[in-house]
Amino acid sequence: MKKIIALLLLCATVQVQAAPFAKGDPAIGKKLFDQHKCNSCHVKIVEGDASAIFTRPDRKVTNPQQLVAQMNRCSGNIGVKLTPQDEQNLGAYLNQNYYKFK
Ligand code: HEC
Repeated sequence: MKKIIALLLLCATVQVQAAPFAKGDPAIGKKLFDQHKCNSCHVKIVEGDASAIFTRPDRKVTNPQQLVAQMNRCSGNIGVKLTPQDEQNLGAYLNQNYYKFK
C-alpha cells in the first residue's frame, strides 16, 4: 500500500513539472503584457520585433523558475508588483508562445 501511495505521489510531482504555469491563462497574460508595456524596453535591446528577446539565441531564461525571476526583475523596474496569479498568467503567455518549457 505504501508503495502505491509513493508511486501516486511521484506521478503527481511529475505532472506538476510537466505543465509549468498550468494555473495561468495565456490570454490574460497577454493582456497584462500589453497593459504593462513589457516590450517597451525590450524593443531597445533587440532589432525589429521586440518579442525576439524571448527567442534570441543567447536568451537568459532557460527554465520556468528563471522566467518568474526575470519577470519580477523587469516589472520591479517599472514599479509593478506581480501577484502569484499574474506570474502564472504572464508565464503561461510567454511559455506558450516563446519558451515552450515542458
Ligand atoms: C525597464 C525596462 C523593461 C521593462 C519595462 C520590462 N523589461 Fe523585460 N527585460 C529588460 C531587459 C534590460 C532585459 C534583458 C536582461 C538581460 O539581458 O540580462 C529583459 C529581459 C526579459 C526577459 C528574459 C529574456 C531572455 O533573455 O530570455 C523576460 C522573460 C522579460 N524581460 C519579461 C518581461 C515582462 C513580463 C515585462 C512586463 C511585466 C518586462 N519584461 C518589462 C527590461 C525591461
